[in-house]
Amino acid sequence: MDDKVIIFDTTLRDGEQVPGCQLNTIEKIEVAQALEALGVDVIEAGFPISSPGDFKSVVEISKAISNPVICALTRAVKKDIEVAAEALQYAKRKRIHTGIGTSPFHIKYKIKTTPEEILKRAADAVKYARKFVDDVEFYAEDAGRSENEYLAKVIEAVIKAGATVVNIPDTTGYCLPEEYGAKIRYLKENVPNIDKAIISTHCHNDLGMATANTMMGIINGARQVEVTINGIGERAGNTALEEIAMILKSHHNLNLKTDINTKLIFSTSRLVSNLMSMPVQANKAIVGRNAFSHSSGIHQDGVLKNRENYEIIDPVEVGIRESSIILTARSGRAALNHRLELLGFKFGKEEIDDIYHRFLTLADKKKEINDEDIRILAGVVFQGEKSLKLDLLQVSCGKSLIPVATVGMKINGEVHYSTASGNGPIDAAFTAVKHLISKTVHLEEFLIQAITKGSDDLGKVHIQVEHQGKMYYGFSANTDIITASVEAFIDAIAKIA
Ligand code: KIV
Ligand code: ZN
Repeated sequence: MDDKVIIFDTTLRDGEQVPGCQLNTIEKIEVAQALEALGVDVIEAGFPISSPGDFKSVVEISKAISNPVICALTRAVKKDIEVAAEALQYAKRKRIHTGIGTSPFHIKYKIKTTPEEILKRAADAVKYARKFVDDVEFYAEDAGRSENEYLAKVIEAVIKAGATVVNIPDTTGYCLPEEYGAKIRYLKENVPNIDKAIISTHCHNDLGMATANTMMGIINGARQVEVTINGIGERAGNTALEEIAMILKSHHNLNLKTDINTKLIFSTSRLVSNLMSMPVQANKAIVGRNAFSHSSGIHQDGVLKNRENYEIIDPVEVGIRESSIILTARSGRAALNHRLELLGFKFGKEEIDDIYHRFLTLADKKKEINDEDIRILAGVVFQGEKSLKLDLLQVSCGKSLIPVATVGMKINGEVHYSTASGNGPIDAAFTAVKHLISKTVHLEEFLIQAITKGSDDLGKVHIQVEHQGKMYYGFSANTDIITASVEAFIDAIAKIA
């Protein structure tokens, strides 16, 4: 049977410490409920002595949550422990997380004391916390840079004092994976009473090794991991929950499991990101926008033949509907045709060639082609050749310039030109168009639709013109909004005939 790895989530404590990520109590409850649904085992809800807001949040989360253990952080200080115990009074299952620095840096420069005194304070804090709760976790702050022999003595002492979990934080994210793994193994092999406690990892990502270090901790005997959603946390962050959950799920040969309902990973990631105003980087493993997106032609073709050619995780497993094929200038006909079919279009080879040609022209102008663009490209083919068509448009406009436009319009196969001025470039171009047609038209409605994503996106123009009491509708889309306007105007006029 697979061994269980306990998921201790510290999004609401180490994650929430990040400047700009602060949540109010209601938001924290929302996150805690999402974490409970996700299946985490322990929720570190806050550091109650640090502020009245943190205290209140621990109280309210304790009331709102049923299954996970609610944990409150303290320093190895009596008052901290008393306040934490009070904040946890409504928790169905509760844990106090107390600790002190054990590295030469912390002992000498932060706490300004001796290793012997640290050892005593550590054991005393655990003993005191056990007066309030049965479940006490001890953290040896900066264990990553602590000397193994001394660390082992501290861990032995705190377990003797009643610690149920011993946390070995790589507080500064300094350790190499090998080194961190060896530290956990050293404790497993050299702390006589280690079987009476669970070893926990708590890794920071300063050198981008938090996940690797956590994995090495697990491989060497840790059975609890301290993690956050999206890897948020102090400085470069903590180990990302979603990464550990999916590593353990993907590598069956480790014979390890978690109780995480991985299908809720994506929604939880976005909830935390939105509430904390902390965007998820596009290439973030598991939950980044590009984590299941394929943009190169070769990869797109491979994925369309068999998803597993380029994907080790089925996106559905983490709550993402499907992998996405991002259509760019590097996409091939196979990817374009696939998208056209998903959108309900069926074209023959010649039509696909025509759309592909237009697609490449558009893709050169904008980075990413979306479904709306594809529909428009497909629509252009449906309509076939038109009797009126914009062939050339040249405008000059700007501050202190009189807007002037020259329009070249193909009328039944022959190009005619006209130049006009106006109160703006669009007005000038429309007047030039009117000079080229024999009909009287009145512009009734002119709607330029807002760009959806970035300044390189398509602008869409809807136009209504009136001719002899009847309305005619025109539409166009182009990255150049003036061209789109003139095309839409001509589209409407062409319908009069
Ligand atoms: O990184 C760290 O050492 C911590 C402890 C308070 C557990 O966050
Ligand atoms: Zn930390």
